[in-house]
Amino acid sequence: MNTEAEIRDIFGHLKKLIMINEEMGIEPPPIPTETLNCPEGAITGNQDKKKGAGNCTSLKALRTFIGDCQRCKLHKGRNNLVFGEGSSDAKLVFVGEGPGREEDIIGKPFVGEAGKLLTKIIENGMGLTREDVYICNVVKCRPPNNRDPGRDEIETCIPFLKQQFSIIKPEVICILGRIAGQALLGGDFKITLKRGTWHSYMDIPVMPTFHPAYIIRNPSRERELKGQVWEDIKKIMKHLGLPQSP
Ligand code: URA
Repeated sequence: MNTEAEIRDIFGHLKKLIMINEEMGIEPPPIPTETLNCPEGAITGNQDKKKGAGNCTSLKALRTFIGDCQRCKLHKGRNNLVFGEGSSDAKLVFVGEGPGREEDIIGKPFVGEAGKLLTKIIENGMGLTREDVYICNVVKCRPPNNRDPGRDEIETCIPFLKQQFSIIKPEVICILGRIAGQALLGGDFKITLKRGTWHSYMDIPVMPTFHPAYIIRNPSRERELKGQVWEDIKKIMKHLGLPQSP
């Protein structure tokens, strides 16, 4: 039997099986919800096309949905799409602006110099691990030469961030810096004025603070800026009921 004949034979058997099952009133097995909801264009037709990423009910499904993204021009220069990492049950999500050089190479958020400072804040300051929280960015691909992400790029990528929030349902979002602040809280957001004060995004309490890279770029103000970030972080810890050393 040649390959074509074999395939026809297999399909013939399958068809017979389906007909027998139908006659006996046996329903086909349910398709897992994950497949129904994501990825995009999943064979079922049961997903709401208008909801797009909103159909994804897990971070894994959302990552699959995003795929080898070419929705904006940032894909052209990237090595890796940096989706985000951490716990899908995290009470706290940190949001930066976009991957830098190291993040683009490794494919993980905040692993460069600024990332090391953020990790210190999480571990030494909050007494948590990176795995306890979730870390991600407004855009998932590195802007060339670390330029600010453009409005079109943010608009294209932000539905994925919003869906990450919907899936994780954190108790607090910590915005790191101006770009993330403007993306989530509006174009006139000023980090120097708004840091340390509570805001809201998708009904989730939001605390903006300085981006760790800003502290690194201003060594003469390191003590002052670190002190201010620590004040903001303490507010988050209080909100989450985390123990604070005196
Ligand atoms: N800066 C960011 O905003 N995000 C990263 O992931 C790394 C540096």
